[in-house]
Amino acid sequence: RAVLVLDGVDYLSADPETGRPDRASVIDRELLSHYLGAVAAIGPKVDARPVSLSRGFVTIELEVPPESVRAKLWRRALGDTAEGDIPDRAAARYPVTGGVIRRAAESAKVTAQTRGAKVSAEDVHAGVRATLDSKLGNLGVRLAWKQKWDDLVLPDDALDEVKEFIARVRHKRRVYEEWGFARKIAKGLGLSALFSGPPGTGKTMVAGLIADELALDLYQIDLSRIVSKYVGETEKNLAALFDAAEAGHAVLLFDEADSLFAKRTEVKSSVDRYANLEVNYLLQRMEAFAGITILTTNLDTSIDEAFRRRLSFRITFPMPEPSEREKLWRSLLPKEASVDTSINFGDLAERFEMSGGYIKNAVVRAAFLAADENRAIGMQHLVRAGVLEYAAMGKVMHGSMR
Ligand SMILES: Nc1ncnc2c1ncn2[C@@H]1O[C@H](COP(=O)(O)OP(=O)(O)OP(=O)(O)O)[C@@H](O)[C@H]1O
Ligand SMILES: [Mg+2]
Repeated sequence: RAVLVLDGVDYLSADPETGRPDRASVIDRELLSHYLGAVAAIGPKVDARPVSLSRGFVTIELEVPPESVRAKLWRRALGDTAEGDIPDRAAARYPVTGGVIRRAAESAKVTAQTRGAKVSAEDVHAGVRATLDSKLGNLGVRLAWKQKWDDLVLPDDALDEVKEFIARVRHKRRVYEEWGFARKIAKGLGLSALFSGPPGTGKTMVAGLIADELALDLYQIDLSRIVSKYVGETEKNLAALFDAAEAGHAVLLFDEADSLFAKRTEVKSSVDRYANLEVNYLLQRMEAFAGITILTTNLDTSIDEAFRRRLSFRITFPMPEPSEREKLWRSLLPKEASVDTSINFGDLAERFEMSGGYIKNAVVRAAFLAADENRAIGMQHLVRAGVLEYAAMGKVMHGSMR
C-alpha cells in the first residue's frame, strides 16, 4: 500500500534545445501500464499534461494560497522574531507559495539576527527577493540604481507622461478594485510601457527611477537570450519569469524590444514561425501579468502596430535640445571632481549634438584625460573627449567646430 510519486515530470518531455528525447511514452509503456497502484505525478503548471495515456487521471492544481493563509504561514515561519504586523504586511504584499515563504523567512531571520534586531519589512523583502532571484536571475539581471530624479533632464511633456505612468501604478488598486473599474475593462490589470528614443536618451535610467520610486526591483530581461537559447522552452521560461516577477513585485524591462516585436512580415523560415508563436505567447502573458512591463526600442516605428496598440503607455525620449545638453554637461560632472573654472558649458552644448549617454561617456573620458595629466578637468579635456565620443557616435566634426 504505497503511492508512487513521480516528481519533476516536466523532465520527461522532449527538449529540442538539448536534444532530450520524449520519455513520457516510455514510462507509460514500461511502467505505468503494468503498475496498478496509485501514482502521483508532480510538475509545474505549464506541463500539466498526463504522463500516462493508458490510464485515467485527475488533475489537481495547487494555487498560491490566499492572503489569510499566507499570513498564517508567515506568522508560523517568523515566530516571535518579527514585530506585530510584519506577517500580515508580507502576506498582503507577496502572492507567493508556502515554500517561498519558508525559505524567505529563514533568510530574513538570519539577516535580522546578524544585525541583532527583529525582522523588518526590508529583511522580508530581501528574503523574498533572494528566494525568487534564482528564477528571475536565469533570464535577466537585477539593476541596482543610484541616480535620482534630480539627475534626470527631460522635456516637460515626456516628464509628464512618466509621472502619469507612476500615478497609474500607484492608484491602480483604488481605481480598478475599489472603484470597480476592473469589471468594466476586459483586459488584464498589468501596465506596460514602450519607451522609444535614440541611444542614451535615458530610457533605461527612467525605468530604474520608476522602479525605485515604487520600491520595486527592476529586472532587465535579455530578449536575445530568450529567443535564441530557449526555442521550445520559451513558454515555460517566460511563465516562470512572469510568475516570479509577479510574486516578487518586480518590474520587467525588455531592452531592444524591436528584436522581438518587429513588424511581422511574411514568415520566411521555420525559425521565424517559431518566433511569431513566442511573440503571441509573450503578448498574452504580458496582458495577464499584474505587474509592470517596460519595453525599450530605438525605433518606435519598427514595432508591430498591433502590438503597439496593446501597450498602456508609449513615451518618446527625444534627443536633448542645446539647453538640455547644457544641463547634462553640468550635472554629469560630480561635485567632488576638481574642475577648472574656465569651462563654458553653453559652448559644449552647442558644439556636440549628443544624447545624455554620450555626454556621460565624454565627461568620464575627460576626467581620465585630466587625471592622466594630473590636472583639474578643463575645457580642453571636455572638448577632446567630446570629439572622441562624437566619432564613436559615427558623427564627423565640421572644420569650424574643431
Ligand atoms: N535624459 C537624461 N537625463 C540625465 N541623464 C541622462 C539622460 N539620458 C541619459 N543620461 C545618462 O546617460 C546614461 C545612459 O543612459 P540610458 O542607459 O538610460 O540610455 P538609453 O536610452 O537606455 O540608451 P540605449 O537605447 O542605448 O539603451 C544614464 O545612466 C545617465 O547617466
Ligand atoms: Mg537602455
